[in-house]
Amino acid sequence: ITVLSVASEAYPLIKTGGLADVVGALPGALSAHGVETVTLLPGYPAVMAALNAPSEIADMGDVFGGHARLLRGMAGGLHIVAADAPHLFARAGGPYVDAAGAEWPDNAFRFAALAKAAAQIGGGGSSLPAPQIVHLHDWQPGLAAAYLAYGGGPRPKIVATIHNIAFAGWFPASLAPALGLPSEAMQIDGVEFYGGVGYLKSALYFADRITTVSPTYASEILRPEFGQGFEGLLSARASALSGVLNGIDTEVWNPETDPRLAARFGRADLAPRKTNKLTLAQRFGLEPNGERLLFGVVSRLSDQKGLDLLADAVPTLVGLGASLSLVGAGDPGLERRFGDLAAEHPGRVGCFFGYDEALARLVQGGADALLVPSRFEPCGLTQLCALRYGAIPVVARTGGLADTVIDANPMALAAGVATGIQFSPVALAPLESALRRTAALYANGAAWAQLQRNAMATDVSWGASAETYAALYRDLLA
Ligand code: ADP
Ligand code: GLC
Repeated sequence: ITVLSVASEAYPLIKTGGLADVVGALPGALSAHGVETVTLLPGYPAVMAALNAPSEIADMGDVFGGHARLLRGMAGGLHIVAADAPHLFARAGGPYVDAAGAEWPDNAFRFAALAKAAAQIGGGGSSLPAPQIVHLHDWQPGLAAAYLAYGGGPRPKIVATIHNIAFAGWFPASLAPALGLPSEAMQIDGVEFYGGVGYLKSALYFADRITTVSPTYASEILRPEFGQGFEGLLSARASALSGVLNGIDTEVWNPETDPRLAARFGRADLAPRKTNKLTLAQRFGLEPNGERLLFGVVSRLSDQKGLDLLADAVPTLVGLGASLSLVGAGDPGLERRFGDLAAEHPGRVGCFFGYDEALARLVQGGADALLVPSRFEPCGLTQLCALRYGAIPVVARTGGLADTVIDANPMALAAGVATGIQFSPVALAPLESALRRTAALYANGAAWAQLQRNAMATDVSWGASAETYAALYRDLLA
């Protein structure tokens, strides 16, 4: 089975969140199931620099005001095709925003160019054999589905995966002609979405199959509270929709070999974790007290993640005798808020604002518990890393968090299967009571050690889900 996977980020080349982890890890996991994946990415500087021995597979001519080519090569262990369009992608800054954090004003055209490249390769318009399946991730490459549908040429099967439905990829309708969309596209049976051009709408309307990254989120997005306006379309297409849980690359995330940890450890001997905890305390300016319950956070700072509630709960957390280490980047208001809390609780609350992979790993390998109080969470990867590293996940019961953590309720404790703590609804009082439950379990050394062993025994690999994707592809081609 040949697949063209199309996304705006892929680990280890370019990453702002879990999308990159998934797009980077799936090809390797799928190869064991006879699926050959080529990954199409925008030709950002980081991608172009990593491309090994690139060769041109197509000249796209003029694409939205500049010349574009498709280059193929290996990079970061992946078979990559880069959409090399310097007028759109050769700039310093992030994949979506400039150095000051403002959206690139031409994002509609940047990602339409990615979509055009996908449609060209998907339709056999490059020197690569046309893939059997084009797999579109999130809104960025979404217009590829429309370009293929209206192009009238040969059309591969299309799979669309929703990693986060909160990002619709909405642009003004006035752009439609310049984007090369026929007038018939601007209707409800097309790419039109709330009066504009909907990139995710295009993917969800035209795809042969729709997946999202957990079973619970797959049902949540059929409801208005989570569906972001797509609940109607998704309900109509419910028979094409399924939830496939993400995994993590268990070689990239392995506490027995992770060079970024101060001390490596495995399920059989958790003692070295203490060294990571003390190193973490030192790095965050926390009291060097190995006995204190230490919570960690590794997160984008955005409304989705519910960290404003955690900020409200910090006095309770500190009152329980616990401390907090947070690694996060994003919303400046939240950064200020946590900065103030660190100043108010010296030695008990420590923050690092920015993106730092080494520090993120130290939190996973050193904190006693990892907090994920998300308002919604399509899957979530940090709680999977936490399970693997023996940091007990304390999570909101939503989306993939609900599907991957077994709450330490009395029955689960009695059965010896609990792996973490869940709370619901996402509000201050339930979060505070989850903090209290965590502190009580931590105070019971034997119960806590059992939780850690269970957490670390959880299968967080891609194994089962790669098989599910492969089966979905096979089914689609049958
Ligand atoms: P999302 O994609 O919504 O941000 P996920 O939990 O799926 O959430 O994925 C987040 C990924 O980004 C994880 O690999 C996590 O370790 C990483 N990450 C998030 N914030 C940071 C940060 N500030 N520094 C380092 N890694 C981070
Ligand atoms: C999105 C979601 C996150 C998910 C990730 C990878 O960023 O917010 O929950 O784990 O995509 O699918």
